This record gives sequence, C-alpha cells and structure tokens, in this order.
Amino acid sequence: MQTTIYYFTGTGNSLKIARDLAQKLEECELIPIVKVWQTEDLESTSEKIGFIFPLYYSGLPKIVYDFINKIDLSKSNYFFTVVTSAEDINDLPLQQLEKILKTKGKTLSAGFFINMPNNFIIGFNIHSEERQKRFFENAINQVEKISEIIKDKKENLTQDLFEKNLSKSEEINQTFRDEVYEYDKSFYADDNCNSCGICEKTCPVSNIILVEGIPQWQHKCQLCLACINFCPEKSIQFDKKTLKTGRYHHPEITLQEIINQKK
Ligand SMILES: Cc1cc2nc3c(=O)[nH]c(=O)nc-3n(C[C@H](O)[C@H](O)[C@H](O)COP(=O)(O)O)c2cc1C
Repeated sequence: MQTTIYYFTGTGNSLKIARDLAQKLEECELIPIVKVWQTEDLESTSEKIGFIFPLYYSGLPKIVYDFINKIDLSKSNYFFTVVTSAEDINDLPLQQLEKILKTKGKTLSAGFFINMPNNFIIGFNIHSEERQKRFFENAINQVEKISEIIKDKKENLTQDLFEKNLSKSEEINQTFRDEVYEYDKSFYADDNCNSCGICEKTCPVSNIILVEGIPQWQHKCQLCLACINFCPEKSIQFDKKTLKTGRYHHPEITLQEIINQKK
C-alpha cells in the first residue's frame, strides 16, 4: 500500500474527510484508530502515513496522542495530517505531531485544517443547516487540493510554526488529556431512554454498558460525543449543558459505520 490513513472520529466529520481523501489517492487504505490502538507491536508499512482526527481542546484527542506515540513508523517516510475542527485553527496539533514524530526520527511534512460543523454540544450549540452545508462544500474543494499535495509528497510546514509559543493551548490540551477519562461522570440518560443500546454499540472505546437497561459510563471516555449525538431519543445529557442544544452527526456517515469502526 502506498498510503495508510489512520483516522479517529466521533460523529463522522473526520471519517468523511478521510474517506474522500482516500478515494482521490492511489492505493490508499483507511484504518480506524479505535480498531488497532490496543494492539501490541503496531507498525506502519506504507510509504506515506496520514493522521485524520478532530481538534479536541486545541490539540490532539488523547487516543490519537497515545496511538501515535505507540506505533512504529520506521518504515514510512512521508507524514501528513488533516485536522477537522469547528472553526478553530490552532497550530498546536501540528506541533504535537512533530514532537512525537521527532522522537521516532521522523518529521511532519504536511498539515491541514478543515472547518466542519460543531459536534461539541457540551460547549456550543450546533451550526445551522445552511452553515453546515457551506462547510461541506468548502471541504470538497480543500480535499481536492490536499490530495494533490500528498500525491506529490510536497511539504507545507515551516520551522517557525513548530517553534511558535503555544504554551496556553498546550496547557489546555494537557489538562484535557490528563482528565478526560473522568469527564463521563457528567453523562446520564434521562426518562426518554428506551434501553435501545445504541449508545453502547456506538461508543468507539466500549466505555458504555447497559445495566438493567440503563447506560453506565465506565470512566475510560475519550469524550468523542458519539453517544450523545447519535442517541435517537435525545435522552443522553451532559449535566444541564445539553438540555437545549441540538444534536449533530455528519449526514453522510451512518450509525452503522460508526459502530463498525471498532470491529
Ligand atoms: C471533546 C471535544 C473538544 C473539541 N474541541 C474543539 C476545539 O478546541 N476547537 C474547535 O474548533 N472544535 C472543537 N471541537 C469540535 C470538533 O473538533 C469538530 O466538530 C470535529 O469536526 C468533529 O469531528 P468528528 O465528527 O470526526 O468527531 C471539539 C469536539 C469535541 C468532542
């Protein structure tokens, strides 16, 4: 395989981008991080390696951070990333990736951000449908441009970017990664829960189990928000923060595709 894209997604934005990009590249395989992250002796064999994931608290999701630290990348020589975010552009994930790759004697060659609709409903409400549509349209053009850069193994990052002082963002992301397993203490299912078990199936890290029909979170949460956004009864809440917010997942990514990731 020429290219392998490792992706992480909660609500489909990053999977949609990863899939569209893979279609434009020759000989490209897509691997969900949640399927392989606990495997021992992980190693890449493709020449080009991509990491596609959502921006979490200004930086890498914990699972992505842990996975990239763990995987043996010695056989690969071109690394790129596409970060999907809800309008925030923050160079921290590029710096974080470069730092990890450096410990392996590698470097990040190319990095891109794509604005996508917000799924962080515990902080902000979802974007209007009209706005979402505009994000999707722009994303199509961006993926086309990104694919051309990757095909030619071009570089688009400078040393200045890696040296920028982003200590504030770093602190925010570090605290998030240190504490995220416990954040699920704020989730609960309200009286609308009909014990369908979709949350249990959807959770990419199998952090939810149904006890007498009621979902219970097991404190190894990545905060991807798949459970709350895909619940068909809108019964899952996060404290009081989500009582009035909408729910979001990418319209072209099905519940089954999210469920299948970990299989
Ligand atoms: C825990 C969490 C933290 C987030 N933090 C940010 C952020 O710092 N800046 C931002 O623009 N979007 C943030 N978002 C929004 C997502 O990055 C964005 O909606 C992304 O496209 C979702 O990707 P997915 O559908 O592949 O999961 C956050 C989302 C979650 C769930």
